[in-house]
Amino acid sequence: MGLNMRVYIKSHYFILSGLVFTGIPLLIWTLDDMAARSLLKDALSILTLLAFCQMAGQFFWARTNRGAVDNLKMSSVVKYHKIIGYTCGGLLLLHPVLLVVPRFFEAGITPLAAFTTVVTTVTSQGVVLGIIAWSLLLVLVLTALVRRTLPITYRTWRGLHGMAAIGFILISTWHVIDLGRHANIAFSVFIAILAVGGVLLLGRHYNIEAIKNNGEA
Ligand code: HEM
Ligand code: HEM
Repeated sequence: MGLNMRVYIKSHYFILSGLVFTGIPLLIWTLDDMAARSLLKDALSILTLLAFCQMAGQFFWARTNRGAVDNLKMSSVVKYHKIIGYTCGGLLLLHPVLLVVPRFFEAGITPLAAFTTVVTTVTSQGVVLGIIAWSLLLVLVLTALVRRTLPITYRTWRGLHGMAAIGFILISTWHVIDLGRHANIAFSVFIAILAVGGVLLLGRHYNIEAIKNNGEA
């Protein structure tokens, strides 16, 4: 493949993935005719939603998506994957706390009281899903951070990382559909497609690996 074609596909994939994982959620957001809330609340909400969409994008920014990322250097794909993982993952770990930040500027219960109330409302399915998703995300981020010190091979780590990612994306998508105030039908269908698509992509990747390994055995 010529260099120009390569450069073209490279920028093409960046633009395309930017459109899918950031453009479409923003579009759905602007089409939503919900009552306007404070600027702070809206900003936090959109930040959380976009960070969540990038998590679904992680499945498409790894070797799982070989066909599409083949024209990019694998090292830059993984670099992008890591940057997104730590920044958006870190942000989402803070999301339960960020939820109550607007309370600093409102009369009524204190942010701490609001936080305690939310995370102890275990009668709410959405909150329980959030707590499970949060724990899986913590595992993903921490095991990525200390990967080199773990007594397992890189391949084993990657397998576990992929499994945790599947659990995390399914549970967190369910949480967002359940609790998210912007999870209208359009947004719910959209993120369900992203999540299921990501999981299927990883499943296909494991299938191909298994076939390859069988061939070698
Ligand atoms: C927190 C920071 C993260 C780091 C440092 C990290 C790092 C990595 C690395 C080094 C790989 C192997 C690259 C490859 O073979 O393509 C990988 C693969 C992968 N990551 Fe992450 N990741 C992070 C977060 C996430 C998150 C949050 C998700 C999903 C929501 C995710 C999903 C995946 C998937 C599905 C694969 C492919 C697994 C496989 O090939 O078996 N990662 N990650
Ligand atoms: C301790 C864990 C968690 C708790 C208690 C929690 C709680 C909540 C609550 C109460 C809402 C509704 C907020 C509102 O209506 O304004 C919400 C929305 C949301 N949560 Fe969580 N959550 C948790 C973990 C997570 C995780 C791990 C993710 C993502 C990976 C996530 C992503 C979202 C998103 C995207 C929304 C929608 C925001 C919006 O529509 O404005 N949550 N969460």
